[in-house]
Amino acid sequence: AFELVLNRSGLTLTVEPERSVLRTVEAAGVPVLYSCEEGTCGTCETDVVEGEVDHHDSVLTDEERASGETMMICVSRCRGPRLVLDL
Ligand code: FES
Repeated sequence: AFELVLNRSGLTLTVEPERSVLRTVEAAGVPVLYSCEEGTCGTCETDVVEGEVDHHDSVLTDEERASGETMMICVSRCRGPRLVLDL
């Protein structure tokens, strides 16, 4: 599990291993747009404020992935203990 901070909503959540970031955010009542939930459509792309992203999508380029500025929250996760998103 890792800590998930939603900057604009002022929420701190815990992402459990069996639950996606997207579902964790949604369950907290924060509206998020998504479609495929498989990391292929790009709808759920979210700006990352802080944290090392563990990318699992097939949308971003290698460069975008390396920059760590955005992530697909339906499939991608965090390598470290804490992820801060612009949500
Ligand atoms: Fe399609 Fe996340 S919902 S990439």
